[in-house]
Amino acid sequence: MEKLKTYNLNNVGEVVTLKGWVSKVRNLGGLIFIDLRNRTGIMQVVVRPENEYYNEALKLKSEYVIKIVGKIVERESKNDKLETGDIEVIVSELYIINKSKEIPFQISNDTTALEDTRLKYRYLDLRRDILQKNLSTRNKITFATREFLNNLDFIEIETPILCKSTPEGARDYLVPSRVNKGKFYALPQSPQIYKQLLMVSGFERYFQIAKCFRDEDLRADRQPEFTQIDVECSFVDENDIMKLGEELVSYIFKKVKNIDIKLPLMRMKYDEAIDKYGSDKPDLRFGMEISDITVIFSNTDFSIFKDVINNKGIINAIVVKNAADKYSRKDLDKLTDFVKSYKATGLAYLKYNEEITGSIVKVLKEEEISSIKNSLNIENNDLVLIVSGKRNIVKSSLGALRCKIARDLDLIEDTYKLLWVVDFPSFEWSEEEGRYMSAHHPFTMPKDSDVDKLITDKEHCYSKAYDIVINGYEAGGGSIRIHDQEVQEKMFKALELTEEQIQEKFGFFTDALKYGCPPHGGFALGLDRLTMLLTNTDNIRDVIAFPKTASATDLMCECPSSVDKNQLNDLGIKID
Ligand code: AMO
Repeated sequence: MEKLKTYNLNNVGEVVTLKGWVSKVRNLGGLIFIDLRNRTGIMQVVVRPENEYYNEALKLKSEYVIKIVGKIVERESKNDKLETGDIEVIVSELYIINKSKEIPFQISNDTTALEDTRLKYRYLDLRRDILQKNLSTRNKITFATREFLNNLDFIEIETPILCKSTPEGARDYLVPSRVNKGKFYALPQSPQIYKQLLMVSGFERYFQIAKCFRDEDLRADRQPEFTQIDVECSFVDENDIMKLGEELVSYIFKKVKNIDIKLPLMRMKYDEAIDKYGSDKPDLRFGMEISDITVIFSNTDFSIFKDVINNKGIINAIVVKNAADKYSRKDLDKLTDFVKSYKATGLAYLKYNEEITGSIVKVLKEEEISSIKNSLNIENNDLVLIVSGKRNIVKSSLGALRCKIARDLDLIEDTYKLLWVVDFPSFEWSEEEGRYMSAHHPFTMPKDSDVDKLITDKEHCYSKAYDIVINGYEAGGGSIRIHDQEVQEKMFKALELTEEQIQEKFGFFTDALKYGCPPHGGFALGLDRLTMLLTNTDNIRDVIAFPKTASATDLMCECPSSVDKNQLNDLGIKID
């Protein structure tokens, strides 16, 4: 393919043959100007009235496929918005290779077409330059990944797509078996079990660019079907894996965007991330850390704070610097609604100006107001936002509010901030199940010092698990796995799994661990999220060729769809 964008004034005089699509066609006083587009760029080509192909050119419409032969000349009026804007091609021959129906939306980066329309005609949407570039970036990432890992003797091994349900935490996509009626395969939520089995098999250094499937509620950074860069190695500890992971990520940043990432990356304990940022994926491109001001109110008369303290809750604040005058009463009501959507009961505020105003100024003692000022280093025109209540609600709502305000006030630095979040808790309390569940999966190694707490003190049991966080996104995560049978048995006991449940769920796997399993660990990077970060989009659909909507449908193929009754009969499935 001719690389359109490589042509410039140096090529003036050359005769070229170009093939591509008609991006735009204009008839200006007899001269026909065509923007010819292909994967490599856009070139203006001109057909003069005296040309024998002029009548053919009159038939052209958007998205016709054409071939032209012509000479490159310098343009009279240059277009500095176009890479080839200094030149144009004067057509000598023009052939229509194929016609196009009238297109449902204009193929341009600044299209105003609704996303649903674009997804219905995704093959046309993908002609847009921006999406072509995003997918090309994605390709560069996978290429750099393979290059980096191959150089370190990792081997790429594919693992099954039809497999047994893995204990990854989300709902499985199930596939009914025709041959074994009434039985189901699960699509892998990740290749977790297989990659550990490969370590038992002695492969030592494995990787895979793996498709994963999770039937979970979708968000802007989640798809039901996504791709992981999945890595596992033997005879390693936490530091080895984190070093490998960050070197891979920095290699990708350098190769794909020529960005230097300073290593080693900062490490932050999970507890600190929650305390200061209200999130296990803190965005460090801006400050506005969360402060605990509970102690200030130990003798308060304000009944709401008093009740919170009596119920072992906390009172936390963020300071929005020099912003008191930027928030009206109405704006603050909106912020209150925002924190309420995170289950907070309300949002109190104080505006520190010559005169101190705010929703709780009348109910607090003077010394409380000045204590807040001193402990939070408040200056003139600062806005203090306060949430009180249960720790997890206070942290998560202020964490989300901090990000919203940073976006609203444009406080986010244009840079990449990477870090490891380490020392995750081993367990999470599940309100639904009324018991502790694995925070990651039941094969995650607890910290050496916490093995004995597995049964007795689950709340304070931490694991050798780590997440790599970039600009507030969880870009990847992993752990050291349990290879010691005694520890594994303790873990199952902690999770209140019976012998029968263990055998049924993953008996084959725990058996394998008994045959000389090496110490091992690994991680997985979300390829889609990495691509989002490197293409500066916050919509995961912009980096996947054929994505699903937020309700997990494919608007182009119209799937999921009903199937033939006979197909269901074959599978022994009846639908009411
Ligand atoms: P985890 O579940 O943290 O770990 O997933 C690893 C990374 O995959 C990405 N990711 C997703 N991306 C898009 N859509 C989704 N629905 C989605 N879910 C996850 C994230 C995440 O950090 N087996 C372990 C890895 C290991 O321990 O080695 C695992 O899957 O970027």
